[in-house]
Amino acid sequence: MSRIFSGIQPSGIPTLGNYLGAIRNWVALQQEPDCIWCVVDLHAITAFQDPSVLRQNTREMAAVLMACGIDPDRHILFLQSAVRAHAQLAWIFNCIARLGWLNRMTQFKDKAGKDRENASAGLYVYPNLMAADIMAYHATRVPVGDDQRQHLELANDIAQKFNHDYGIEFFKPIEPLILGPAPRVMSLRDGTKKMSKSDPSDQSRINLNDDADTIALKIRRAKTDPEPLPSEPAGLEGRPEARNLVGIYAALEGTDHAAVLREHGGKGFGPFKESLTDLIVDRLAPIAAETARRLADPGGLDSTLRNGAARAAAIADPIVTEVERVVGFLQS
Ligand code: AMP
Ligand code: TRP
Repeated sequence: MSRIFSGIQPSGIPTLGNYLGAIRNWVALQQEPDCIWCVVDLHAITAFQDPSVLRQNTREMAAVLMACGIDPDRHILFLQSAVRAHAQLAWIFNCIARLGWLNRMTQFKDKAGKDRENASAGLYVYPNLMAADIMAYHATRVPVGDDQRQHLELANDIAQKFNHDYGIEFFKPIEPLILGPAPRVMSLRDGTKKMSKSDPSDQSRINLNDDADTIALKIRRAKTDPEPLPSEPAGLEGRPEARNLVGIYAALEGTDHAAVLREHGGKGFGPFKESLTDLIVDRLAPIAAETARRLADPGGLDSTLRNGAARAAAIADPIVTEVERVVGFLQS
């Protein structure tokens, strides 16, 4: 048995970056027999979320995932907060992980920024909760973006120390699945920054629910340089914005930079941006339509998620109860 688990935060509307870097890979992995997909709302509140916005974003994320092809019947799709086992195991992991390990996490340093004293304690122990998400299911394969690799190494350190401290072979090593030519989609305003659903500028990203006009406008305004497109990938060196747009085109078309440049090299950005807009709209319009259809039936959506949570809890509860027994809690 080799279960797959991954999570995504409902901290905003998912972007084209989330789609190409994560969701699309998840959909492809569903050929495997046993996948668990989690909307990690506990992780989302490590930075303050307005409650009504969080509720809206959580539904939206679940609807988008299904619209992209996540199958809540054959696999499991659920909300992290609906399965208590995550928080219970995370507490135990807070007591296993060492401060020294957490101090090395680059994501914490990035997210906490200069005002570190004012970051939430939750943001600091975020990787412990992530480890709990995975290990509450004995999942061993975890598709994530490259930025999450360090968190998975920490999860393996926690698993090893738990096994060692309690003298038991309980948790198995987990393996990151960094899939394919992982396209890192960059901001439309700054080709050196990751496209992010939490960027303050909406112009920096394509949201999966943007309509055709919005997409056209954002691509037209996307930052570029004055040179025409090169005819070979080497010509993208030192041109992060050009490289990003070519990369998005290639990822959506399922080809590589060289093929895109063979077709579009030598053109100015005007005509290339028009082709790119057409391609993005063609790929995202069906997702946006299906998302809207699902959001129009919140009762149906919530019941799908409740069903997912019940099936998730049926797996996680016995595992976490066993951990509690190993630790020495009397009534587990
Ligand atoms: P986040 O939006 O940071 O919660 O990330 C959710 C998932 O999407 C993770 O697996 C990320 O690695 C992936 N992801 C987020 N933004 C991008 C991006 N700009 N390009 C590629 N993958 C991304
Ligand atoms: N931290 C991950 C991210 O920001 C999301 C996440 C939470 C996750 N729990 C997980 C990913 C467990 C994989 C497995 O992308």
